[in-house]
Amino acid sequence: MRILVTGGAGFIGSNYLLMMADKYPGDCFINVDSLTYAGNLKNLISLEDRLNYIFYKVDICDSAALEAIFQKEKPDAIIHFAAESHVDRSIENPLIFAETNVLGTINLINYACRYGVSRYVQVSTDEVYGSLGREGLFTENTPLMPNSPYSASKASADCFVRAAVETYGLNASITRCSNNYGPYQFPEKLIPLMIWRAIENMPLPLYGDGLNIRDWLYVDDHCRAIDTVLRQGQAGEVYNVGGNNERTNLEIVKEVLRILNKSDSLIQFVTDRPGHDRRYAIDSSKIKRHLNWVPNTNFWDGIGKTVQWYLNNERWWREIISGEYQSYYSDMY
Ligand code: NAD
Ligand code: DAU
Repeated sequence: MRILVTGGAGFIGSNYLLMMADKYPGDCFINVDSLTYAGNLKNLISLEDRLNYIFYKVDICDSAALEAIFQKEKPDAIIHFAAESHVDRSIENPLIFAETNVLGTINLINYACRYGVSRYVQVSTDEVYGSLGREGLFTENTPLMPNSPYSASKASADCFVRAAVETYGLNASITRCSNNYGPYQFPEKLIPLMIWRAIENMPLPLYGDGLNIRDWLYVDDHCRAIDTVLRQGQAGEVYNVGGNNERTNLEIVKEVLRILNKSDSLIQFVTDRPGHDRRYAIDSSKIKRHLNWVPNTNFWDGIGKTVQWYLNNERWWREIISGEYQSYYSDMY
């Protein structure tokens, strides 16, 4: 299979490519990424000489460049990771989220249909469902109620994918996963942010009361779920993916501090995120029942491995935080 992967230089896309290029030496992986602040080719150095890996620095909103890739590479399948992914940035600048996440997705779908791509996976998020109260889980039938510009753009993209299935017969499925963590996550997201700031003995900014809940999944488990949906999922179906690992943000940060042997006094409660969703929790029974996917990594192993990865790869994150990212955060705190 020739698989066009968008956003392969980002956090989940990199983990996906590193895992799958090894697992499927007979498949070819065509990575299309515009290398925004979140895309980092250093993640993929080990793939550079591989015969089953190709990279294009192309924006998915650039129709001509994207069409040229379809003409040359003739992909059989698409996995669409590319997105603006950070909620706080979407509050500052919603427009780029509409451009990449909505218009970019429409562009991709257009060429997928025109060039007869036989399989398409839209990598979406549980945030499209909005926020839960104390009880209940998101199922695939939960209504879409996005609360941030980021989740609004992802929900909109999901609707265009659905429309392409119904209108053009595109063989597409949508995955909606909860919060991922693991190696190569950009250091603006909660877990890597808290790890590097704790290493640096800097204050750890917890929004609001720190009691918002996320459902954490180790990135390798998400990558295997996407691969399973690519190969076995049904057209028009949505698959929720989660780790059954609900934690408050405060619990997460305390665990990071415990592993690093640092004091809780580094925690600093700061002004809440506007529109901050209180609780996410995923019901993954459909993908487990229909496609036999199960998560392999328990949270305590996963968080330990993740902290160790950031300790072992200081150079990776130091190069990032010394650049644009630093000025973004110095504007906020
Ligand atoms: P990320 O921000 O780490 O990576 C995004 C990648 O997309 C980067 O490599 C970036 O350069 C690329 N990109 C952005 N705009 C582009 C454009 N216009 N054209 C081409 N490439 C572009 O994101 P991530 O955390 O790896 O998330 C990947 C996907 O998974 C996103 O669609 C996100 O919505 C979804 N998702 C993420 C999580 C999570 O916890 N991180 C959970 C569920 C779903
Ligand atoms: O649920 C899936 C989503 O998870 C993905 O679709 C998004 O792309 C991904 O960014 C993530 O969104 P969140 O907003 O949940 O992740 P983030 O790491 O930004 O924040 C996690 C929680 O931690 C959230 O409740 C906000 C809080 N937080 C975050 C940061 C960056 C803090 O308290 N302090 C912080 O500095």
